[in-house]
Amino acid sequence: MVPTATKVTTRPARGLYFFARFLRDPRNVGAICPSSRTLGERMLAGLDLRPGDVVVEYGAGTGSLTEAIHARSRDTGALRYLGIERDDGFCRILADRFPAFSFANAQVEDVRALLAERGLPPPKAIISGLPLIFLPSMHDIVATAHDVLAPGGSFRTFSYLQSWITPQARRLRACIRECFGNFRQSGPVLRTFPPAFVLQGDKR
Ligand SMILES: C[S@@+](CC[C@H](N)C(=O)[O-])C[C@H]1O[C@@H](n2cnc3c(N)ncnc32)[C@H](O)[C@@H]1O
Repeated sequence: MVPTATKVTTRPARGLYFFARFLRDPRNVGAICPSSRTLGERMLAGLDLRPGDVVVEYGAGTGSLTEAIHARSRDTGALRYLGIERDDGFCRILADRFPAFSFANAQVEDVRALLAERGLPPPKAIISGLPLIFLPSMHDIVATAHDVLAPGGSFRTFSYLQSWITPQARRLRACIRECFGNFRQSGPVLRTFPPAFVLQGDKR
């Protein structure tokens, strides 16, 4: 039986809950299981974060990438974090797991308004777990990420190994290059399922 969001307190329960959400809405959830914290750490690699910097996470799911951001916040001194997640069940799990972090049960397409409502300055990093290759608004999401980032800020996402050669994944890489004027890729990160490349665009 699938646990309700309030009872999802262990990693296996989160995995089961995540899979049930995937079955209900495969295109928006975009993966059969949460990614690993290792992938989260690789997505933060090389980011020079200072206390008070704003980090926004897109599509935080059950919080695997959030774990890595949370650990970084503990190590560097408190970051200002905003997680944007459209699924209310995932939002309840996230709020329980990370009480010091702030989550919006909303669409990332509304990021400008969400930052303004909270009086947050432009983010230093946007870490995306969104299944961008399936989203019709992919181009707008990446272009808006570029616009809202602070100068020198970084947009990071990932692309699964098995879909890397597909036209949609190629479109995503081209989109990051077009919006940011640069593009970097690292990996694949093997300690996550499925293995994934980290994609990055940096705002000049
Ligand atoms: C692949 S899952 C993220 C998994 C997460 N990194 C984890 O490991 O648990 C993608 C997430 O993006 C969310 N999502 C999809 N489209 C969204 C949108 N437009 N705005 C906000 N969240 C969205 C889904 O609800 C889902 O939780």
